[in-house]
Amino acid sequence: MRTIEAIGDLQECLKHYRNQGKTIALVPTMGSLHEAHLQLVDKAKTFADVVIASIFVNPTQFAPREDFDEYPRNPENDQKLLEGRGVDILFLPNIAEIYPANQISDYDVGSIGALLCGVSRPIFFNGVAQVVARFFDIVEPDVAVFGEKDFQQLKIIKQLVERQKRKIEIISLGIVREGDGLAMSTRNKYLSDSERSVAPSFSKILRQAKSNYENGLAQEDIISRAKKSLGDLFELDYFEILDANTLTQITTSSTDVIIVSAVKLGVTRIIDNIVFRRLNV
Ligand code: PAJ
Repeated sequence: MRTIEAIGDLQECLKHYRNQGKTIALVPTMGSLHEAHLQLVDKAKTFADVVIASIFVNPTQFAPREDFDEYPRNPENDQKLLEGRGVDILFLPNIAEIYPANQISDYDVGSIGALLCGVSRPIFFNGVAQVVARFFDIVEPDVAVFGEKDFQQLKIIKQLVERQKRKIEIISLGIVREGDGLAMSTRNKYLSDSERSVAPSFSKILRQAKSNYENGLAQEDIISRAKKSLGDLFELDYFEILDANTLTQITTSSTDVIIVSAVKLGVTRIIDNIVFRRLNV
């Protein structure tokens, strides 16, 4: 595996692969990698000849009071993990490389960006879209792989590719969980031991809501029960049951449902979701 910091060097290297007719997959990350990130790499390998993973803690997606400074950074260990998983290139740019002379282009995340996480983190998706578009410009991958844990982020990236008419196939990976059901996340490192033992209840409450939905309980009742259970253990940001394709209210023509929620446990924000086929359609 080659580790490359400069865009010019990366593009030189990519030219070499392209001249050999090889296809390229990009796996963007913010590092401090865990098994879910590595499974994105595994998936990328099945879709392209060459896999590039990027690690960049993107300042534009953090609000001033958020955890940009504290965000865990562990590039040496990440390098070993990626190499072990057969990544060809690790792109490890610095901030000036990605945002030269503070040139920050704006991106309208549209109505999807204003919902759910967009309410409590109003600049977040704009920052994600900026950096992902920048990586797409630099790498011009054939394929890019993202996780379904960040379901809204995935939707916004798919929308960006469509709107900007980019020829990039967006592939997604289902949520990778710990044995006790907690969705893997770099931010799980912030949890104290006692918080870590409470955290699996989050996914359990979402699973309970799904089974209540499938058992035909009224949506308002499912929502009020879930909010009560979540509120007992966490600080609730949102809990919603929506059409998974539009992220709007379920209608008779909805085919897929998402139960999606964000909570805080101490200082740690946790998000999770479950997507499933709507019954009787
Ligand atoms: P990061 O949180 O490092 O996540 C990188 C990728 O890993 C994202 O596509 C995310 O959805 C995926 N991922 C993380 N945990 C996962 C899990 N438990 N199961 C499945 N996929 C998971 O998301 C970002 O970084 C950034 O916003 C980024 C897209 C890199 C832009 O800065």
